[in-house]
Amino acid sequence: MIRKHLAAAVLAVLASAAIAQEAAPYTVAEGNKVDAKTLKGWKTWRQAACERCHGANQEGMVGPSLTDSLKALSKDDFTKTVLDGRAEKGMPPHPFLKGEKIDALYSFLKGRSDGKIAPGKVFGIDE
Ligand code: HEC
Repeated sequence: MIRKHLAAAVLAVLASAAIAQEAAPYTVAEGNKVDAKTLKGWKTWRQAACERCHGANQEGMVGPSLTDSLKALSKDDFTKTVLDGRAEKGMPPHPFLKGEKIDALYSFLKGRSDGKIAPGKVFGIDE
């Protein structure tokens, strides 16, 4: 009986670990090698020049630190804030990022916020 409970507990831990892994929207190795989608997110970050206001390493400048923000902000709130902006508070709208780009950008920034992706340039995992 005890053994059975133990097995169930172990299974539950394994299952939650699997879920946690599945929930991460990025894959990273050695701090700066990332999957294709996350790499696209980094490129989008550079192209959209978010760093002008949020700092080169998302540490915050005029705009808040996004490594902090993404700990609290849901993906939906993130998407809405970036696409629609908060004009009255100085965050411009970025409607042209709609679709794949905003998704990829979220993956990259979430990895930065989780402390899994190192600051600075990232590379493709297969390069
Ligand atoms: C012109 C400056 C500027 C640029 C460029 C800019 N932001 Fe912002 N951003 C801000 C400011 C200022 C705020 C704070 C708004 C507020 O007080 O609610 C903000 C807020 C945010 C928030 C919400 C943070 C939170 O905790 O609620 C996110 C997410 C965000 N920006 C992402 C981005 C991304 C991604 C880009 C590039 C695509 C970008 N921003 C470009 C100025 C900027």
